[in-house]
Amino acid sequence: MARYGPNEHDVLIVGGGGAGLRAAIAVAETNPKLSIAVVSKVYPMRSHTVSAEGGAAAVIKPDDSLDDHAYDTISGGDWLCDQDAVEAFVKEAPEEMIRLEHWGCPWSREENGSIAVRPFGGMKNKRTWFAADKTGFHMLHSMFQTTLKYDPIDRYDEYFVTSLLVDDGRCQGVVALELATGKIEPIAAKSVILCTGGCGKVFPFTTNANIKTGDGMAIAYRAGVPLKDMEFVQYHPTGLPFTGILITEAARAEGGRLLNKDGYRYLQDYDLGIPEDKPVLRSMELGPRDRLSQAFEKEKEKGRTLNGPYGEFVHLDIRHLGKEVIDEKIPFVRELCRKYENIDPVHEMIPVRPVVHYIMGGIHTDINGETLLDGLFAAGETACVSINGANRLGSNSLTELLVFGARAGRVAAEYASSQTSFGSRLEALATDEKKRIEKTFFNSSGNRSERVADLRKEMHNAMEQGAGIYRTETSLKSSGEILGELRERFKKISLEDKSYTFNTQFVSAMELSYMFDVAESIIESALQRTESRGSHQRTDFPERDDQNFLKHSLSYKTEQGSARVEYQPVTITRWPPGERKYGR
Ligand code: FUM
Repeated sequence: MARYGPNEHDVLIVGGGGAGLRAAIAVAETNPKLSIAVVSKVYPMRSHTVSAEGGAAAVIKPDDSLDDHAYDTISGGDWLCDQDAVEAFVKEAPEEMIRLEHWGCPWSREENGSIAVRPFGGMKNKRTWFAADKTGFHMLHSMFQTTLKYDPIDRYDEYFVTSLLVDDGRCQGVVALELATGKIEPIAAKSVILCTGGCGKVFPFTTNANIKTGDGMAIAYRAGVPLKDMEFVQYHPTGLPFTGILITEAARAEGGRLLNKDGYRYLQDYDLGIPEDKPVLRSMELGPRDRLSQAFEKEKEKGRTLNGPYGEFVHLDIRHLGKEVIDEKIPFVRELCRKYENIDPVHEMIPVRPVVHYIMGGIHTDINGETLLDGLFAAGETACVSINGANRLGSNSLTELLVFGARAGRVAAEYASSQTSFGSRLEALATDEKKRIEKTFFNSSGNRSERVADLRKEMHNAMEQGAGIYRTETSLKSSGEILGELRERFKKISLEDKSYTFNTQFVSAMELSYMFDVAESIIESALQRTESRGSHQRTDFPERDDQNFLKHSLSYKTEQGSARVEYQPVTITRWPPGERKYGR
């Protein structure tokens, strides 16, 4: 076999979070002879999976069923989910969760020793497994430890991937910046799996860590791979107003109530899709996230929210649960409130507001994580395998990264095993990329006075105002124009820090350029979807329109600097489109 060089692997995974580590283990298990690289801009245990709180969904109790899990997911996603992918997901979910337990994940237990589950939003049965309210931490830790057993897994910690290496029409690795030295080098691989997480940082107010800047989506998009369903951005109804830190849905699952400024449970005034004849296992506070966030906006319009230094908010009241339940079931909620709001929720109400949490869209993949570019795969939040449709149900995403991380790992392993050589242009492509970076970020000629922080702030404002919980043609067009202007100004970006060692300003500038791509794709696909569905609410087109829009958007990058949007049908297997309800 033709070898390429020292930085050469069979399978390269970008991202060391849940999906990335699950994929790495799957590759190692599929073919122990393969060399595997996990490249991540942060040390794996600092990936955003670590901050997931409430739990991971999988059927485990006798009164639940795979069909119920599938139906809840599809109906919650407003019928934009691909049902073949959902069926595979719910089927493989329980075995993945049990496997994780065998790797050391300490799932919380019922009194009788069986797995404890809690109800989560939009689900009609209890099926959310949890490890108190630090579920992501424990899941990531279990997977990280497990990867250490496998000698073929190499890690490139704190390497920032700047682009894909595409030669002979197939992806053959990445170009990466070593953050400690500033060295930019190619890392060749016969297959690449992108597991870089979401892009919440495109918006100003988010539960997402600073690292979630949509890098993987943007580098795939630049390589001609379409992004799917990017108009669907999820707001989580309960973030802390100052920081955006997540107050987990588990707080409502345990009985927390949302109150407006008059102390009234305002959700009873809104249609959340709870059938009147159903006993409400989920309280009204456990309606789907899109509906709850929209209800907040309506309360705001009616002047029934509270006003604070960081804008409008409502109260989440968990005082009636008592100290014992809070400390046992949701201790992290208490810790976060104390540390970041200086309140104790055992005695005080928690101020909360909707906050960008997740993107249903992402790199277009099939059910195995394969993209339209040979050799390139994706899994986790960065991918859109289409199990989340127009609105993801809480606790499906942690399970998604297990099921589809594993699937992508297995298929990428097989693909790598079938490749015998590398293209001849990899070194030249990496040199071109180095020149592009030098020219864009370190060129001091001409008038270069634009600052990353200013452009980022203006992008944030444009996205919040134009593409937030409610959108219109006017708001989206205006945000699109602002984005175009910001891109122009970005050409005059100036970095004060010219050093090579941990140049965080340089990294922020690269992240910003990726966020522009992602933002452009969100705006353009939202503009062209002239209906309201799930998290995409167009006040100028308030109805769902299955006739014209029961289809996925695919946005492609164009030379002109805006996305070209195409469509592909949704896969329906057993559940024809219907009204969104918890029960059938
Ligand atoms: O509220 C939460 O714990 C979030 C869970 C999720 O987004 O799946």
